[in-house]
Amino acid sequence: MNTSGERPSDPPDESWTVARLLRWATEDLTKRGSDSPRLDAELLLGRTLGLDRVQLIVQHTRPLDGAELAAFKQMFVRRRAREPMAYILGGREFYGFDVQVDRRVLVPRPDTEVLVDVALERTSERDMYGRALDLCTGSGCVALALGLRRRTWKITGSDLSEEALAVARTNAARLGVARNVRFVQGDLFQPLRARHRFELIVSNPPYIPSAEIAELMPEVRDFEPRLALDGGADGISVLRRLVSEAPAHLTPGGVLACELGAGQSERAVELFEAAGFTDVRRHKDLGGHERVVSGQLPA
Ligand SMILES: C[S@@+](CC[C@H](N)C(=O)[O-])C[C@H]1O[C@@H](n2cnc3c(N)ncnc32)[C@H](O)[C@@H]1O
Repeated sequence: MNTSGERPSDPPDESWTVARLLRWATEDLTKRGSDSPRLDAELLLGRTLGLDRVQLIVQHTRPLDGAELAAFKQMFVRRRAREPMAYILGGREFYGFDVQVDRRVLVPRPDTEVLVDVALERTSERDMYGRALDLCTGSGCVALALGLRRRTWKITGSDLSEEALAVARTNAARLGVARNVRFVQGDLFQPLRARHRFELIVSNPPYIPSAEIAELMPEVRDFEPRLALDGGADGISVLRRLVSEAPAHLTPGGVLACELGAGQSERAVELFEAAGFTDVRRHKDLGGHERVVSGQLPA
C-alpha cells in the first residue's frame, strides 16, 4: 500500500497501468524483504497478463481491468508472505528444462547443476547402458537431468517422502522420460534390492544443521519441507550414512557424487576416503565454494 492509500485490489480502475502497478508492487516487496522485488513483480504481472518481461516494458501504459488486478493480487499476497516464487509460478528451470514444483519439494537450485555436470563428466567414458541412482531425489530434478542426457541409461530416483515422489513422477511423465527414469520410496538405500548395483550414485541430501534452520530466510524456513533441509545436529548425518553405505550398491569403478553445504567438503572427503573411494575430488559451485565431492571405487 502506498502513501495515497492505493491498492491494486481496489475496484476496476483504469489508472492502474502496467508501469504503475510494477512500481507499487516493487516498492511493497522491497519493504517486505524480497531480494529481487522488481523481478518478482515483473514475473507475477507477466504471468497474470500472459506477457514476457520485454512486452511489459513495451506495454507499460496498458491499463489493467478488475479481473486482471484480482488475479495479480491472488499471487502477489503469497509473495508478500515470502512464499518462494517457484511455488507461486508452479515451476523452476533446471538444467535447461522446466521442473514443476510446489510445497511438497525443495525448489531446485542453480548450484545443483554442478552436481549433474560432475556426474556426467565422471561417467562420460561409461557403457551406453549404465544405471544411475539419485538418492534424495525430491522434485526429481537431478534424476531427470541424467535421464534426459543419458537416454539409454536406467535411472532410479529415491526419496523418503511419498509426496515428493508424486511430484517427481509427474515431472518424468511431462518430460517424456518415464520409460528410463523410475522412482522408489524409502530411507536411502532401503527400497533397493540388495543385489542391485549402479555405475553412478548421485545425491543432494539434506545438509543444514538442525539448529541453523530457524535462522534461514523465510522463503526456505517457512515454506520448503523440513525433511529436505534438516541434516541433523552437525548437518552431515544423512551424508555420513549415504557415503558409508554407497559402496555396497556400486559396481567396481562406480562413481559417487554428492552435494554438500558450504564448509562441509573437508569432512565429506574424509568420509569418502574412509568408505574406500579413490580419486576423491572437490568441485566448486557458481559462487566458488566447494559444494560437491565425488569419488570412484577401485575398478
Ligand atoms: C535437499 S533435498 C534435494 C531434492 C532434489 N534432489 C534437489 O536437488 O533439488 C533432499 C531430499 O531428501 C529427502 N530425504 C531426506 N531424508 C531422506 C532419507 N533418509 N532417505 C531418502 N530421502 C530423504 C527429502 O525428502 C528431500 O526430498
